[in-house]
Amino acid sequence: MQTLTLTRPDDWHLHLRDGEALAAVLPDTARRFARAIVMPNLKPPVTTVALAAAYRERILAALPAGMNFTPLMTLYLTNNMPAAEIDAVKASGFVHAIKLYPAGATTNSDAGVSDLKKCAATLARMEKLGVPLLVHGEVTDPAVDVFDREAVFIDRVLIPLLRDYPALKVVLEHVTTRNGIEFVKDSGANVAGTLTAHHLLLNRNAMFAGGIRPHHYCLPVLKRESHRQSLLAAAVSGNPKFFLGTDSAPHAQSAKEAACGCAGCYTAHAGIELYVEAFEAAGARDKLEAFASFHGADYYGLPRNTEKITLRRDAVTVPASLDYLAGERLVPLRAGESVAWRLA
Ligand code: NCD
Ligand code: ZN
Repeated sequence: MQTLTLTRPDDWHLHLRDGEALAAVLPDTARRFARAIVMPNLKPPVTTVALAAAYRERILAALPAGMNFTPLMTLYLTNNMPAAEIDAVKASGFVHAIKLYPAGATTNSDAGVSDLKKCAATLARMEKLGVPLLVHGEVTDPAVDVFDREAVFIDRVLIPLLRDYPALKVVLEHVTTRNGIEFVKDSGANVAGTLTAHHLLLNRNAMFAGGIRPHHYCLPVLKRESHRQSLLAAAVSGNPKFFLGTDSAPHAQSAKEAACGCAGCYTAHAGIELYVEAFEAAGARDKLEAFASFHGADYYGLPRNTEKITLRRDAVTVPASLDYLAGERLVPLRAGESVAWRLA
């Protein structure tokens, strides 16, 4: 089979940045995906419905004419987000979730939550109104090994959280371990997980292949092969709790290729194509459409897309770098190598 037609997909976890960077990366996503859940970790973070409304307008203004794309906005949870903000979220119609970044866990997370107990009233309101909590699931305790931070977060934070708020909708974003997969599977229908293409395609060896590979460094960090196998099995299982979230996270080349390089892989240039590769390698191309186009919409209570896209098996060479900021390049995943599928 040389072509693959599927319902137009959505990206349930995406970093679009702002300003010049936003303008540079947005077309890659908008060409492929009908909608995307847009992460709020700007500087300063998007913490109110009013800030989300303004950010949404900047995204729509940056969208090239003729492109059809809907940004689904999120708010950044802080220790002092008032419960009333959740009512405003529900009334807005364009903010779809609240994002939890443990303080210091990843890029622009300094304003994140230091203790979920401080958010009790807000979490209770979210549970009541059915507003999903999207979780960056890693502890920041420096005593915990970096490869164990997701598993420890599940034990220390997620299990107690769901004990306190059993009906809270929780998405464990970018699941990277078997522990994360098991947690999502074993929880109720209110708990789901997103999977990135790079975590489905790569294991941690990719960070050290012949030398240090900063463009394979993201958070949560790539894990060992047995974990990758668990993620892939969940993705192709048909279980509606798992859906597509690229976590495409652009950083300037100079910020990645540095003594202390930033976390994040840019994958939006092949945002659906990379998943086709992963599913095909697992012999499960027929399982991609539900994962990419149905499960997320169903979880968020949004209509499924009706448009179709077609992909063709035809190797594309990925450029060594892409236009980004003035005087700064963006190095995409697979730079200088090829992706096996292209948009028809
Ligand atoms: C993200 C970013 O750069 O904003 N980086 C990453 O490695 N995924 C933040 C995040 O989602 O952790
Ligand atoms: Zn992310």
